[in-house]
Amino acid sequence: MKTFKKLLASALVVGMLAGCSSSEPAGSGSAAPAGDDAKTYNVGVAIYDYNDAFMTLYRNEIESYFAERAGKDGVQYNIKMVDGKNDQGEQGNQIDTFIAQKMDVVILNLAMTSSADTVIQKLVDAGIPVVLINREPKEGDVDEAYPGIVDNPTVCYVGADARQSGTIQGEIIVNLENHGDVNGDGVVNYIMIQGQKENSDAQYRTEYSIKALTDAGIKVNNLYSDPQLGDWKRDLGAQISDNALAQFGNDLEVIFCNNDDMACGAATSIEKYGRKVGEDIYLVGVDAIQDAVDLIAQGKMTGTVLNDHIGQSHTAVDVAIDLLNGKEIKNYYWVDYLPVTE
Ligand code: GAL
Repeated sequence: MKTFKKLLASALVVGMLAGCSSSEPAGSGSAAPAGDDAKTYNVGVAIYDYNDAFMTLYRNEIESYFAERAGKDGVQYNIKMVDGKNDQGEQGNQIDTFIAQKMDVVILNLAMTSSADTVIQKLVDAGIPVVLINREPKEGDVDEAYPGIVDNPTVCYVGADARQSGTIQGEIIVNLENHGDVNGDGVVNYIMIQGQKENSDAQYRTEYSIKALTDAGIKVNNLYSDPQLGDWKRDLGAQISDNALAQFGNDLEVIFCNNDDMACGAATSIEKYGRKVGEDIYLVGVDAIQDAVDLIAQGKMTGTVLNDHIGQSHTAVDVAIDLLNGKEIKNYYWVDYLPVTE
């Protein structure tokens, strides 16, 4: 298991690799910033919800990395970023506006992946290339095969394989001396706080975290028979954990959260109920947002998984710029997850 220092080093390398993955030669960073007469590209960036903690890191990095690339490329990238407010109707209108404004490229974090076809088709018909990010549209369980992506040479997806994050999360628990079985009765009693229902990250993390335990021969028991949806949000993570701790008491041994913001909520609840992470309960998330990393350092969370927003945002921007330059692109671009524990 990587230490946090090692993780930071790796994250830096991942970020640097992503930064270097464009077809641009590695610059010295001394390229002159674009002047007034520099060519200007209009870039639309549609984010599903500004309130999402991870996507806030991601979107801020998109902006700063475009600024960095503008300096190196000697052109101007005019970024128009919009908040879909977790509403596909709202985002649909924003896409219509991008089309009316004749954007040169669109980076798209779908509000609902079930609307992918409609939105992609609109943009393709308008001749606008698309870089889908973070929310992978899927048809069944088939990998790298979404028709709207593979059938359109100017549409691609940049993301991370959520199965990997689930597996790493599960392995954090498997690697504990007691494998999460606090009371030693041979079964790990857990709850799973999930993101959003139709989201493939949520589905895969839910499935693969537990699969890592069962693959290691560990018996598990989900204390809830119904899905517990926390909508990626901290307050709902706390609320679901409050209910579970009140209902199941010491029987609850592991809280799996599909992301860190919900895990931060769960951590508050664990403290409120007088339980101690690492002693009588375990808690894992995904993303490695700063609050979670701090909680891990304080021993209030067991671990998380780095969802590399730097690597992903830089790759998305590099590919968008390749599209602006008429370069051929791949259908899918993947950035690795990494474990984070103390
Ligand atoms: C996940 C991330 C979550 C949330 C979600 C939005 O990759 O782990 O925190 O941002 O994307 O789709």
